[in-house]
Amino acid sequence: MRILVLHGPNLNLLGSREPGLYGRDTLTEIDAELQQQAERLGAELVCFQSNHEGALVDRIQQAAGEVDGVLINAGALTHTSIAIRDALLGVKLPFVELHLSNVHAREEFRHRSYLADKAVGVICGFGPISYYLALEGMVAHLRSSEL
Ligand code: DQA
Repeated sequence: MRILVLHGPNLNLLGSREPGLYGRDTLTEIDAELQQQAERLGAELVCFQSNHEGALVDRIQQAAGEVDGVLINAGALTHTSIAIRDALLGVKLPFVELHLSNVHAREEFRHRSYLADKAVGVICGFGPISYYLALEGMVAHLRSSEL
């Protein structure tokens, strides 16, 4: 089982970016911990971060036939990007939307997601643990659809 983890704009700044909201863990640390959790669950991970919408669309298109599912923290693009929504629908890969912060407890413009209604599930508000919960959810989802 292979899973693609996508991190959108500004997530490369984790560790120093608004630590009160996003915590002190760097993206490298989160990816490393996620790799370990994936091994424990018997899954293989591929991680990718970009600040560019088009690069994320390209990576999603490339993932068709390469992975079984996607975990995506699209950052601010969650609230604006029809292109990322269309790419995920275009490759027909199941995906989990996740956020470190509880976007529903923040500004109103963060309440809208262009991805959520098409996601297998949405997780937010648990800091880096959101990634680990999303991984567990996706693995369970893929296992149940194998049956
Ligand atoms: C975020 C929430 C988004 O609203 C914000 O633009 C981000 C990070 C999160 O993980 O909490 O960049 O996706």
